[in-house]
Amino acid sequence: MSETKGFTSSFGAIAAAVGSAVGLGNIWRFPYICGQYGGGAFLLVYLCFVFFIGMALMITEFVMGRHTRRTPIFAYETLAPSPKQRWWRYAGLLGLITSFLILALYLVISGWTTNYFAESAVGRLAGLDSNAITEHFNSFSNSALRPIVFIAVFLAITAAVIIGGVQKGIERVSKILMPVLVVLLMALCVRSATLPGAAKGFEYLFKPDFTQLTGQGVLAALGQALFSLSVGMGVMIVYGSYLPKDDNLLKTSIWITVCDTLIAILAGIAIFPAVFACGQDPAGGPGLVFMTLPAVFNSMNPAEGLPIGTIFETIFFLLLVIAALTSAISLLEALVAWGNEYNTKRSSRTRNTIILCGLMLVLSAVLSLSNGVWNGFTIGGKTLFGFVDQLNSIYLPPLCSLCAVIFLGWVVKKEIIKDELSNGGTLKTGYLGVFMFLIRFVAPAALLIVLITGILNG
Ligand code: PHE
Repeated sequence: MSETKGFTSSFGAIAAAVGSAVGLGNIWRFPYICGQYGGGAFLLVYLCFVFFIGMALMITEFVMGRHTRRTPIFAYETLAPSPKQRWWRYAGLLGLITSFLILALYLVISGWTTNYFAESAVGRLAGLDSNAITEHFNSFSNSALRPIVFIAVFLAITAAVIIGGVQKGIERVSKILMPVLVVLLMALCVRSATLPGAAKGFEYLFKPDFTQLTGQGVLAALGQALFSLSVGMGVMIVYGSYLPKDDNLLKTSIWITVCDTLIAILAGIAIFPAVFACGQDPAGGPGLVFMTLPAVFNSMNPAEGLPIGTIFETIFFLLLVIAALTSAISLLEALVAWGNEYNTKRSSRTRNTIILCGLMLVLSAVLSLSNGVWNGFTIGGKTLFGFVDQLNSIYLPPLCSLCAVIFLGWVVKKEIIKDELSNGGTLKTGYLGVFMFLIRFVAPAALLIVLITGILNG
């Protein structure tokens, strides 16, 4: 992969990678599990995982990607070329499969988000009471056609950006959308934090309650750290392959990690004070965004005049669409880039994108239908959607991550790592010892524990 195909500037690279990291995981999932598992106590554990394990994984993937300039399967192959090491490429393949499955699920939720953006923009949710909103969500997500139409709309936008290319599509769109996202989020935070009764929301989110922090919560924190940083499936190997050669990998990783974490915390500030101020249940789980929040926004609408609640609701769903879009872009890019490398002669970016989007649409449609009309079909007591969700949250990303850290820590020569982190000897790498310790011992141990517990708990 030539240098000219990658990101053109450090800012562009960071915007794109932050775009990948910041997604539904930050704005919906993080605040909800943070509140559920003990607020500030969970946050502390989460921060440790993010900075010591998640960031080490991000650096691992960046090193593999930038050194080889290739997508995961070929990156493993390039770094482990001997016939005896050929099994490593299956770790890359596993990453590819994981990206595929995660994207399919992601598209279903992104389709819901796009629908809710459209509905709130035309005021369709205004005036519904709590029960009516719950009913509205259930009948929408269980219906056959409408969710699929919105998945297709969202996928078409994602595809258009990918066809635009790495620089003119991904980098340009991320450079515009990420700052917009931050501004929208800030506006929501100010609104939420200044509502009367908001203090309770801050307490829920930040007051450490160690009695609530269970073993389950610790595992959830690690899973969330991987998902939120987009590591554990090779997406960051692909983005790493687009990073400029003179980019400081440590600095870039710190930027991405800090931005991702701050945005997750800001999302919590935008959501919980408002939820408490409006007397709603904070433990809304999967329905928090689609059922609890519309009720919160509706209660901000005055009886007459400007429907301020609906305006904030529209802003919120726009924010969520943007966050989901830049994440979906990175997942689709990882697949398209692999296709390009796999068949350099016959494939083109446009062709690969169209083929992949066709496959994705079918798979997401099946997952969407498994929530409603096809919910009679179950695997181990779970709908297909639930089953793929479990695979994606408990098993596959930790397994792929484990392969990556063992590979870089124990198989790849340390000189290669040092050369990549120091940009050929021009940067200081005093932290190399700590990094090696993390990827050789700490991360594998933590990931193994997560995997084994996941398997034992089924
Ligand atoms: N990090 C994204 C989020 O928080 C999800 C994601 C995972 C994106 C893996 C790309 C790869 O929503």
